[in-house]
Amino acid sequence: MRLGDVSDDGLHGASPPCHSRPTRGEKSAEPGGRGSWRPYHRAVGWPTLETDRLTLRPLTADDVDSLSELHAQESFWRFPFQRGWSRDETRAFLKRTVERYSDPGIAVSAVVVRATGQLAGWAGLSVPTFLPEILPAIEVGWRLGEQYRGCGYASQSGEAWLRYGFEQLDVDTIVSIYEPDNAASGAVMKQLGFVLDRETTHPALGVRLHVMSLARAAWIRAGAKTPHDATPADIQNGKGCPPSPA
Ligand SMILES: CC(C)(COP(=O)(O)OP(=O)(O)OC[C@H]1O[C@@H](n2cnc3c(N)ncnc32)[C@H](O)[C@@H]1OP(=O)(O)O)[C@@H](O)C(=O)NCCC(=O)NCCS
Repeated sequence: MRLGDVSDDGLHGASPPCHSRPTRGEKSAEPGGRGSWRPYHRAVGWPTLETDRLTLRPLTADDVDSLSELHAQESFWRFPFQRGWSRDETRAFLKRTVERYSDPGIAVSAVVVRATGQLAGWAGLSVPTFLPEILPAIEVGWRLGEQYRGCGYASQSGEAWLRYGFEQLDVDTIVSIYEPDNAASGAVMKQLGFVLDRETTHPALGVRLHVMSLARAAWIRAGAKTPHDATPADIQNGKGCPPSPA
């Protein structure tokens, strides 16, 4: 794949977020042993999660207008594609994502600001199929429009999906993958408690990657804490983050 090509796969031009190694619960019969979440998800459907300030709900084809505007921003896809996406690419992304809610039963979700109802981007869990060396695994990841950064939304979304992965899907370790130049994403991972697992190279794009991991035991030891949200001072200082709903 050339840099700039959009893969069939997800977050990094393959799936996106990070990877985990499910070791507890019922194993799926799927090649690659993708793990214990599948029977659970089939029973209950992909969830909508609520945080103080966000609704994290499944993406749908109806998100194409709002998401196309965000995807068109060069910075949204700088890592790894170094360019924004077209509306057709966004439509195809939504189609793939919606299909993944039923097969393999895990995919990223919309990040919606509760106070305004605006789509800020997407975040959540996925299978990092673009990096076979770490499979089976579940990754957590995030992408936000420029106007929605700096409000704590990535951290808050990541925390919510970590909790869902550890507590509801019974996953033992969740990974998160970034390019070392992507300081913002690395900062979110470190804030959530991730530590470096390995350095490697994107097999298709040739860019350097840091694979970070967080074990459930370490997450619990750290208090399974919810990261800070934007403070009233941040809001007064003009970050423009809407306050939490009363
Ligand atoms: C990565 C991304 C989601 C982070 O969003 P965000 O809104 O800045 O994240 P948060 O507000 O939750 O910030 C979390 C922490 O990261 C820090 N941070 C944000 N940008 C940073 C930067 N460029 N350098 C260093 N730290 C940074 C914040 O200061 C905050 O730490 P603090 O609480 O100690 O101040 C956002 O930059 C983005 O969408 N980028 C484009 C898509 C992308 O690259 N996604 C990741 C692919 S691996």
